[in-house]
Amino acid sequence: MGILLLAPDRDLRGLVQQLHRQAPDLALYLWPQTQPHPDIDFALCWNPPAGVIEQFSSLKAVTSLGAGVDALLDPAVVPSHLPIGRISGPELALDMARWLIAQITSHWLQLDQFRQQQIDKDCRTWAPTEAPLIGLLGIATIGASCARQFQSLGLRVEGWNRSGHGPSQVPMHLGAQGLHDLAARADYLICLLPLTNSTRGILDRSLFKAMRPGSVLINVGRGQHLVEADLLTALDAGQPALAILDVFQQEPLPTGHPFWSHPRVRVSPHCAAISQDEEVARLLLDSYRRVQAGELPLGAIDRQAGY
Ligand code: GLV
Repeated sequence: MGILLLAPDRDLRGLVQQLHRQAPDLALYLWPQTQPHPDIDFALCWNPPAGVIEQFSSLKAVTSLGAGVDALLDPAVVPSHLPIGRISGPELALDMARWLIAQITSHWLQLDQFRQQQIDKDCRTWAPTEAPLIGLLGIATIGASCARQFQSLGLRVEGWNRSGHGPSQVPMHLGAQGLHDLAARADYLICLLPLTNSTRGILDRSLFKAMRPGSVLINVGRGQHLVEADLLTALDAGQPALAILDVFQQEPLPTGHPFWSHPRVRVSPHCAAISQDEEVARLLLDSYRRVQAGELPLGAIDRQAGY
């Protein structure tokens, strides 16, 4: 029995080392070198091409290498009978929180401006007043962990999701009106949503119209959450005043894309939270043990809901 590693655009050498270290007897099969084999009963996937998984007919389940499962929902990619899990542990959530805190505090504390003032030998000073309000769209495991970290720094947090339920210390908003209410209150509006049919294009002109003038949009969900043309128009109107984007409709972001040189857009190459090999190996082995025991993989999703 063994695990298929099916992640064509990822360098898996560190993960393979970790898996060998943590489970020396485990059989690993790397795609595309491996042909279908009756011993392969579990697969770790990242952007797998359509039509490959169905060839491995002995699979009992698959798991995403990361938190997002949107690339696995199409039955042509993962046949409908296979349960889908995800690998999203506390380290990944901390990674995300650190990145978001760096972006938010750097903007709030105007660190770019002081860099410019140093160049200009300008001694004007500035002190932050009220802590900003962070609006979190999507507040499951990663969002809840980020909310805790933000609050530990005295930042205010409110959330929005489909159920309207979130961690007890986070005031929540619900429904289409709740989304706009939160957008109207937040100084930083962060998209951490899963990509589903109901969240695709959720960051659009109507949401931007509801945002506070001077506020900042941060997208660390998926590029398909954002209507890019609507954002470019909205930035001209100052709502939002700045967009910090880690994910894009097309990745890598094409060299001719207007985001690269837009003065009110900050881009990074989908690196806000990167799964660490040690954690992925540990959670993958845990998930594999569950599947071998006839249980669902770790973080099993509801295919209907899409997360
Ligand atoms: C990253 O994008 C992930 O889904 O973990």
